[in-house]
Amino acid sequence: MAESMKGLKRTRRCAEFSSADIGNTVTVMGWVQKSRNKGGLVFTDVRDSSGILQGIFGEDICGSQVFEKAGRLRSEFCIAVVGRIRSRGKDVNKELTTGDIEVEATDLRILSESDVLPFPIEAETKTREELRLKYRYLDLRRPPLQRNIALRSKLAISVRNYMAENGFLEIETPTFIKSTPEGARDYLVPSRVHQGEFYALPQSPQLLKQLLMVSGFDRYFQLARCYRDEDLRADRQPEFTQIDMELSFADIDDVIAVNEGLLKRIFKEVIDVDVELPIRRMTWQTAMDRYGSDKPDLRFGLEIEDVSSCVKDCGFSVFHDAVAEGGTVRGIRVPGQGHMPRKKIDALSEVAKYYGGKGIAYLCVGAAEDGSHKSSFTKFMSDEETEALIASMGGEKGDLLVFAAGKTELVRTVLGNVRLTLGKELGLIRQGDWKFVWITEFPLFEWSEEEGRFMAMHHPFTAPMEEDWQYIDSDPGRVRAKAYDIVLNGTELGGGSVRIHQADIQEKMLEKLGFTEERANEQFGFLLEAFKYGVPPHAGLAYGMDRVAMWMAGAESIRDVMAFPKLKDASDAMMGAPAKVEEAQLSELGIKVDEEAIKASQKKETDG
Ligand code: AMO
Repeated sequence: MAESMKGLKRTRRCAEFSSADIGNTVTVMGWVQKSRNKGGLVFTDVRDSSGILQGIFGEDICGSQVFEKAGRLRSEFCIAVVGRIRSRGKDVNKELTTGDIEVEATDLRILSESDVLPFPIEAETKTREELRLKYRYLDLRRPPLQRNIALRSKLAISVRNYMAENGFLEIETPTFIKSTPEGARDYLVPSRVHQGEFYALPQSPQLLKQLLMVSGFDRYFQLARCYRDEDLRADRQPEFTQIDMELSFADIDDVIAVNEGLLKRIFKEVIDVDVELPIRRMTWQTAMDRYGSDKPDLRFGLEIEDVSSCVKDCGFSVFHDAVAEGGTVRGIRVPGQGHMPRKKIDALSEVAKYYGGKGIAYLCVGAAEDGSHKSSFTKFMSDEETEALIASMGGEKGDLLVFAAGKTELVRTVLGNVRLTLGKELGLIRQGDWKFVWITEFPLFEWSEEEGRFMAMHHPFTAPMEEDWQYIDSDPGRVRAKAYDIVLNGTELGGGSVRIHQADIQEKMLEKLGFTEERANEQFGFLLEAFKYGVPPHAGLAYGMDRVAMWMAGAESIRDVMAFPKLKDASDAMMGAPAKVEEAQLSELGIKVDEEAIKASQKKETDG
């Protein structure tokens, strides 16, 4: 039976008591972590958001009625305990911050009982995530999640303080808008008033923040909700939060300066980590060539080397054909790993295949018993060619060299991922290492094989680098953008760009992206129109706030720093969303669900 808390007032939170309180009569409220009867005494751990305090019920102190009630306590009952704080003497529990004290109870109220739980509330859990997300409110009671959510709150407040101190206004933008060109699929909201028409939920406030610059707000920021219908991963959710900002009269260095200040401040304030400034800058080209990724993990070396010119005429046809066909041959030197077992090398080949490659070629320098090399390909090469290759990689006896050959893009991806696997497997990543890097000079366009046309690498409003604009017609792929990403330990935390503010450049850009005038006007005519009325040069950036929080919390997934995340299939296991709605609701919206089409698409998915 649930009792009221009338007449009781919580003195403090459980873990906020200490030996200084010994002798005081207090009231604590919280949940029963565990309760057991030992030798005629009931020991009850009471847990709240601060931690745990042990309560102890002895019949001689609390009387038989309270003692009998204490005997009925079960996990997660919500209770109030009144009693006197006393020392635990020698019987200290080192695991608890309150381990040297306990409450000698004189009264107990069961504020509410709990059914048997679907899983225990423990810091370490083996419960599968689907079940935890179904009962997320219970999952959130676990101390690591309590900590993560508190950290996230601290982060939000720290960001707000820094931004306010640096002249940024927090301005909210609507979430019922028109499609924005961020590149993912939109989530749509049907309109009842305008039947057959839809709002799109923002993939980001991109266009709105640019309009705020046109409006003269100078510096804007927002902790903005964004929605993207894309395949989910550990660092992607369909709805997520951006720390979004835009600055007028600003170029790349201005944005970087403000953001280095922000990163320094929030990492210090939230997790007491000193971010070293200035943060290293690396061009996109260098990142792709050396690390095979535009979000390089710089916590370890294992850089990629291009050996194309060394092997272009060698006897191994895989290498030589790759170069002849316009591709490349690249490799990674793994110091001292020449003894790596075949099984592990084969596993690296599997990584290569997973990313679309044909596998990797390997060479263990001087690893055979007679001092010769062990290799999957040197039998096709002359000794001179082999030695030249080893030398060009700086290979030494006992090293492992791995190579991939083919189209440059594929080789980068393959070796980039082989590198990450090696870094993890060989334990090269030091915990507590924070390697930030700005990636700059992204290409303005990327070629889409699927669409057979150029796409904007960032978005269509990103400015080109002035010195490259001359190639816009002759060689668009060569034009670099004034775009930048901030990367931490191999994760893209955020990205942004200087925007185009000149009408002629914007027009040309849209033409290159294949927008007809009508389509451009239809999609973002309001922005083009606004730009006719005196647009300031402006630039901005947005962080995935969940990703920042994930790294700060040392979590494996952004789901661990969100109160109510979605499952991998974008559903909400707790609320059961998305869900069917009443026929009446649909007809009000002028919408009819096409069951046949749904069946056909489901069949296609299972067949495919
Ligand atoms: P961009 O698309 O690069 O840029 O997004 C900025 C940052 O948002 C985070 N992010 C996500 N986080 C969780 N789940 C997702 N599905 C997801 N998608 C993106 C990433 C990413 O770096 N308007 C531009 C910014 C600008 O130019 O100012 C934009 O949205 O951390």
